[in-house]
Amino acid sequence: MAVIASKAPHVKVTVVDISEAQIGAWNSQDLPIYEPGLDEMVFSVRGKNLFFSTDIDAAIAEADMIFISVNTPTKTSGIGAGRAANIKNCELCARKIAEVATSDKIVVEKSTVPVRTAESVRRVLVSASTHNFQVLSNPEFLAEGTAIADLIDPSRVLIGGEQTPAGLAAIDALVSIYANWVPREQIITTNLWSSEISKLVANAFLAQRVSSINSITALCEQTDADIDEISRAIGSDPRIGAKFLKASVGYGGSCFQKDILNLVYICDTFGLKEVANYWHQVVLMNDYQKSRFARKIVSSMFNTITGKRIAIFGFAFKKDTGDTRESAACYVMKELLDERAQMAVYDPKVQRAQMFEEFRYSCGITEETNDAGKLIQTCGSAMEAARGAHAIALMTEWDEFASYDYQAVYDVMSKPAFIFDGRNILPHDKLRAIGFEVYAIGKPNVSK
Ligand code: UDX
Repeated sequence: MAVIASKAPHVKVTVVDISEAQIGAWNSQDLPIYEPGLDEMVFSVRGKNLFFSTDIDAAIAEADMIFISVNTPTKTSGIGAGRAANIKNCELCARKIAEVATSDKIVVEKSTVPVRTAESVRRVLVSASTHNFQVLSNPEFLAEGTAIADLIDPSRVLIGGEQTPAGLAAIDALVSIYANWVPREQIITTNLWSSEISKLVANAFLAQRVSSINSITALCEQTDADIDEISRAIGSDPRIGAKFLKASVGYGGSCFQKDILNLVYICDTFGLKEVANYWHQVVLMNDYQKSRFARKIVSSMFNTITGKRIAIFGFAFKKDTGDTRESAACYVMKELLDERAQMAVYDPKVQRAQMFEEFRYSCGITEETNDAGKLIQTCGSAMEAARGAHAIALMTEWDEFASYDYQAVYDVMSKPAFIFDGRNILPHDKLRAIGFEVYAIGKPNVSK
């Protein structure tokens, strides 16, 4: 919304939420999420044509176009638990809009939703109000950490709407907003269902690439092939392309897992078992990769890590974000906790409370579970985490992790000192020369 306000100065944008704390934070100097470039962008337009408010009714009454941007987490209970997306919040928004609207509106689904949610939203609106509503689907393809750049220069903008004169007019209205800064040929318009499905399929394809390359890491470790060499070799083929071929301890983030599970659920619902199984395998491969990494730590450290101190470098699901949702670190640490390792975590952007919130949400772990509160320590620096540690497990590819003086790190660790590089960003040969035992994802096995 900040980018729309900035690029379309004639448009007044009001962001509303029921949470006073959230809106208060958005109105403060300390914005509630970390994203490179976001502060500057918000501060440049806030109070001019971008406003944050808890007065939801007034904002609805005033608006011509309303974006529904609520979260749609995977259901944790009931029908489709663990796979289907919960669209309760979308429906609540639709009911509120119908209740408060005093004129016709264009309602835009910005949240990632199951296919045919637009139809549910439309029916709620129509049944509860006499005004005319057009529902559009406008999924978001930005990636965290590069969100502002992705929005300013998007690969494409996708807008789906009903293929009726009123629907096409609504599509045009939204196109005209994006056309303030996005070339018209990059704005793709489709029917509603194509737009909704495209979002799920885009994330499924991206996640599939990561799972595909990660599946080959296991083979590399058996054969002494090098995954980075393979990524380069295959990525040079323009039909394959070089992006999203970086092997890792596993993908995370709020979208990949949720959207694939949602796709799987939809396919199952339509009786498309083979299609559902095909995509589910992408998630299973990701689970395998996280677990394989944890098991490698245990087996390398003489099959016991009970009581050993393991420094965890990074908890965010990728660099340049403080977001921890579905972070691979969370799952790996759960397995290490089961082995009763002592963990010392350092992440430049993640605080302890947030980390435990992720443990609770993803793994059902609280500070009380298995002594997690005692076994997991949080540190203000990587050096503090490494002090006395038997091993370092690098989980997030923060640039600073590659820039440390690893001789100094080695000097404060217990020996033998292990490094498990879950992102392949460290200089492995140099680390070995210092004296580290190094394990890297999909790299030849170099034993001492
Ligand atoms: C993703 C999509 O990229 C974006 O289009 C969509 O709108 C939301 O979901 P995001 O979750 O922010 O964005 O991050 P992304 O950069 O796609 O990375 C997802 C995960 O895959 C991260 O954990 C990342 O570390 C991992 N990844 C990505 C790899 O392990 N290897 C790669 O080559 C690329």
